[in-house]
Parts: sequence; C-alpha cells; structure tokens
Amino acid sequence: MWHSQPVTGFTLWFTGLSGAGKTTIAELVGPELERRGLLVDYLDGDVVRTHLSQGLGFSRADRDTNIERIGWVASRLTRAGAVVIVSAISPYEDARRAARALVEEHGAFVEVHVATSVDECARRDVKGLYAKALAGEIPEFTGVSDPYEDPREPELRLDTAETAPEESARLVVAKLEELGLVGVPA
Ligand code: ADX
Repeated sequence: MWHSQPVTGFTLWFTGLSGAGKTTIAELVGPELERRGLLVDYLDGDVVRTHLSQGLGFSRADRDTNIERIGWVASRLTRAGAVVIVSAISPYEDARRAARALVEEHGAFVEVHVATSVDECARRDVKGLYAKALAGEIPEFTGVSDPYEDPREPELRLDTAETAPEESARLVVAKLEELGLVGVPA
C-alpha cells in the first residue's frame, strides 16, 4: 500500500553581513525543526565556497554565480521535500529574487534578514576580517568596501543587537508556524 506523502519542502534563506549571526541562528533553528520531524539540510556560504563554489571570489559576478548555485540546489532539495537552510551574505537583491523564483517553483521561500549593522559586526569581529578589511587588506569586503542591499520585503527582519541568538531562533520558528510551514507542538 502506497501513501502519497505531501511534499512540504521549503527554503529558509538567511541574508546579512559577514558575522551578522546567520549561521549561529541557522544552527539553532535547524535542530528545532528536526525535533519536529522535518528533514533539514544546510547550505552555508563558507561551506559552499569550499565545495560547490570553490575558486569563486567576491566580485559581483562571482557572488551572483555563488548565489545562483545555492538557489538552484535549494530549489532541488525543496522539490524533494527537504527544509533547506541557507546562510549566505547574498548582498544583491536581484540574485536573491532569482533564487526565490527558482525555489518558489517547488515550495515556499522565507527570507530572513539578519540585520546586524556594520558597526556591530566590526565590534564583534568574530573572524577578525573586519579589522583587516578596514585596514584595506581585504578588497571588496561587504559593508566596508562592497555593497549590501537591504532586502526590501523579507518575511522577517532580525535585530540582533537587541535580541540574543536563542530569541532570534524562536522568532524564526514562530514565523514558520505563522506561515503554516511547520506544525505547532501540541
Ligand atoms: S556571498 O556574497 O557570495 O553571499 P558568502 O556568504 O558565500 O558570500 O561568503 C561570505 C564569507 O566569505 C564571509 O563570511 C567571510 O568569512 C568570507 N569572505 C572573504 N572575503 C570576503 C569579502 N570580500 N566579502 C565578504 N565576505 C568575505
């Protein structure tokens, strides 16, 4: 006997500056969704750049290629019923819109802007990259010497200066519940 399973895949796309907290929040949301029985996979910019996008740099063309690849894989996994959690700076509105269009052929696309300011990211400077970028040692560094286009209509915007990662993750899960993409625990 075959039961036809509803395909409930969707893509949760975190965009924001380097060090904004995208990956930290993604790694809190993912396990919570797994606890609720969903199949979760991650496409993280830093990781993708060591495999799928190895050799790409940070010119606009290379960033667009990177985001196009991530969008394409996210679309395929969404089609297969997975929850795809993307964490990538994805600084350009056009590239994000194209990724959304690819994913929405198969499921929902939920854009979350992790809206940590440049000043706050530079203050935290988890990877030490802002100090180098501000000293002119890293060219085309997003927010310092390269653009970041704020999403105009993200499904959710997180202010991480005011909100701890756990609370941000809670807000993301609440948004997914509100959108009917994940069930509410009994
Ligand atoms: S994106 O622009 O193509 O979306 P992605 O998220 O994959 O970027 O990679 C960003 C990561 O690459 C940053 O978190 C940082 O660790 C590293 N990085 C190295 N050089 C740069 C740069 N010039 N601008 C931004 N991030 C950089």
